[in-house]
Amino acid sequence: VRCEAGEKLEITSKAYLSLLPSDLATFGSEAKNLLQDLQSRNERMFLLTFLVVNMADTKRKLENDVFAAAGIAQKNNCALTRLDYQQEAGLMSSVPLGENLIPIQRGLTTSSTAIFIPFITQELFQTGAALYYGLNALSNNMILCDRKQLKNPNGLILGTPGSGKSFAAKREMANAFLITDDDIIICDPEAEYFSLVQRLDGQVIRLSPTGKGIDGKPQYVNPMDINLNYSEDDSPLALKSDFILSLCELVIGGKEGLQPVDKTVIDRAVRNVYRPFLADPDPEKMPILGDLYDELLKQPEPEAARIASALELYVSGSLNVFNHRTNVELSNRLVCFDIKQLGKQLKKLGMLIVQDQVWNRVTINRAERKSTRYYMDEFHLLLKEEQTAAYSVEIWKRFRKWGGIPTAITQNVKDLLASREVENIFENSDFVLMLNQAAGDRAILAKQLNISPQQMKYVTHTEAGEGLIFYGNVVLPFVDRFPKDTELYRVMTTKPEEVGEA
Ligand SMILES: Nc1ncnc2c1ncn2[C@@H]1O[C@H](COP(=O)(O)OP(=O)(O)OP(=O)(O)O)[C@@H](O)[C@H]1O
Ligand SMILES: [Mg+2]
Repeated sequence: VRCEAGEKLEITSKAYLSLLPSDLATFGSEAKNLLQDLQSRNERMFLLTFLVVNMADTKRKLENDVFAAAGIAQKNNCALTRLDYQQEAGLMSSVPLGENLIPIQRGLTTSSTAIFIPFITQELFQTGAALYYGLNALSNNMILCDRKQLKNPNGLILGTPGSGKSFAAKREMANAFLITDDDIIICDPEAEYFSLVQRLDGQVIRLSPTGKGIDGKPQYVNPMDINLNYSEDDSPLALKSDFILSLCELVIGGKEGLQPVDKTVIDRAVRNVYRPFLADPDPEKMPILGDLYDELLKQPEPEAARIASALELYVSGSLNVFNHRTNVELSNRLVCFDIKQLGKQLKKLGMLIVQDQVWNRVTINRAERKSTRYYMDEFHLLLKEEQTAAYSVEIWKRFRKWGGIPTAITQNVKDLLASREVENIFENSDFVLMLNQAAGDRAILAKQLNISPQQMKYVTHTEAGEGLIFYGNVVLPFVDRFPKDTELYRVMTTKPEEVGEA
């Protein structure tokens, strides 16, 4: 009996609905949907007043704007009501006072309301020793972050010439100098960090083939320097031997690089050369390249003689600037190695040697629980030779564990990406500042770093100091317009006409 009654009821309600005007039937089903949303989809009902404020200099312009706005609304099936004689109430309701004086409202569910709240941008706003990196291009909020909180603080700064790479690096240095206690070391192949470093009372070490340093007195660093903390293995030698291999590879050059026999011979010679110093670590006993040269000559293999004769130029020949004991004190917290004068021939060697000196410092600082920030411009130069690339990437990876924060700066993304070590570099860098990119590089980077076309806009034909910042999983477009009428700007710019004024 009951079942019959139910059926009957359904038939009558259907018949009843078909009698309704179709508009009402549509509203009916929408109301049902709304009810379902509220009851089962965790939606709430909001009453919303949507105000469009038009302002213009002349009445005529205002009329036009209002007309244009109404047109746009109509195109999207909405009607704007002019608040004639209620302008003041309208304005007061639109400023963020939290008071609504306009009684026109309509009901919306949570998800529909959310569309009107444009606060869905990602932000990077950390506290503590966070540094400033510019404004978020989407929300105009400050970007503040601390690379030390990343799983891997290693960083890259990429961009075309003049896109503001060095400037961004200098900005970070200046901030880190003022906010943190970290040591900062720079490898400067273009001699452009001088003004900033001097202004901050840092130390500039100028390496040149003539050995003439910053004040005319010779400044030397010894590539054979080692300290007993150099590596966490029992013997600091394994890593040092790796470094000397890279150095020999650069010296010998050639397409094939070092052959297995060469490597064995060099490694043996290195071990012999360091033996007296390691037995009695007296700085006076620190070996120099000349000692390695002599030791190589003592080895029976013909390869040893070949390597030795390649080294000769750097030991007794005209490029012997690296055949001296270190005579500069590296105690300043801000040190810049200016290697511009080394010229093309010695530049890579210089970069490698500076990298090794920095590693020395990192190992010493670790014992004191101090971070070391290391900036290297023109990083791609080190990735061309296989052994050197492998060594640089190894150091790159080790830095993190030892409290180092390296930043590689390069305009030549193609070289960087051509390197076989590139995966390693990108995987080990959680911090990337990407400035304006050339068309070719853009496509490759998009793939490597998973960048959407939307985000790509921010590195396409942009001005200096604009781009994308990658911080862990966060990717934000940033804009950094540094005020030009400041002393800091004058010591950071590289524009010739502006440098002259400083
Ligand atoms: N954030 C910024 N705000 C204002 N000006 C900037 C900014 N970044 C860069 N500039 C201007 O652009 C100039 C060039 O920048 P920068 O020297 O950093 O270029 P670069 O990318 O290092 O070029 P290169 O590859 O040739 O070394 C700076 O000297 C400075 O005048
Ligand atoms: Mg530069």
